[in-house]
Amino acid sequence: MEKRALLYEGKAKQLFETNDPNILRVQYKDALTAFNGEKKERAKGKGRLNNEISSILFHQLSTVGIANHFVKRLSETEQLVKKTSIIPIEVVVRNVAAGSLSRRLGLEEGVPLNTTVVEFYYKDDDLGDPLINEDHIQLLDLVSINQLNEMKEMALQVNDHLTNHFKACDVKLVDFKLEFGFDEEGKLILSDEISPDTCRLWDVHTNEKLDKDVFREGIGQIDQAYETILTRLKGAVVTD
Ligand code: C5P
Repeated sequence: MEKRALLYEGKAKQLFETNDPNILRVQYKDALTAFNGEKKERAKGKGRLNNEISSILFHQLSTVGIANHFVKRLSETEQLVKKTSIIPIEVVVRNVAAGSLSRRLGLEEGVPLNTTVVEFYYKDDDLGDPLINEDHIQLLDLVSINQLNEMKEMALQVNDHLTNHFKACDVKLVDFKLEFGFDEEGKLILSDEISPDTCRLWDVHTNEKLDKDVFREGIGQIDQAYETILTRLKGAVVTD
């Protein structure tokens, strides 16, 4: 698939057009950013790790019938995806208290939640991606209520599947962020990436952090943490 014009450059990825108008080529970068780009670093090998981890997870989600944009991994740092019009909503699913939920509601990090929490954030760098509710989504006319319900339903299915998948790797899925879009037929599909950049992943026995919090909190080697996730995913026997 021929690489054509650069369509978009984000903090961690570049998106290129290809000779197929419905397919894009994603290049994962070795860049690490946190706190809306305020903390930045180059992390050698991170592009390769996230490309491979995200490819494995999207492939798994395809096998259980969750519609998504992933087509195939092309090289160490590149993959092909279906072109989607991205919905400017980040959907966060939480199983265990951590991060902004702990800060906002005063919940101790690591406490399991007695109900799965789904949150919506408005994707807008200038506004700092604020937390929004269904009324705000209607007010801003981002998606219809039916589409939002469909996104929430899919996010919970992804949570069930990934929780199970990571459990088989001795990894606890604490929380994660998803993005959705519409494909060329107007169908809602899961998009973006699923990697230790977008999930909190803790060792099930020790609660060791194996995700981007290692960088956010400056508590270890990011490449080692991500490599651990990849190695465990490759060795996992998943039964669903
Ligand atoms: O910071 P917060 O606790 O709200 O993050 C919840 C989850 O969403 C974490 O797994 C985090 O890595 C992910 N996230 C993300 N991109 C953002 C915000 C949060 O991947 N812009």
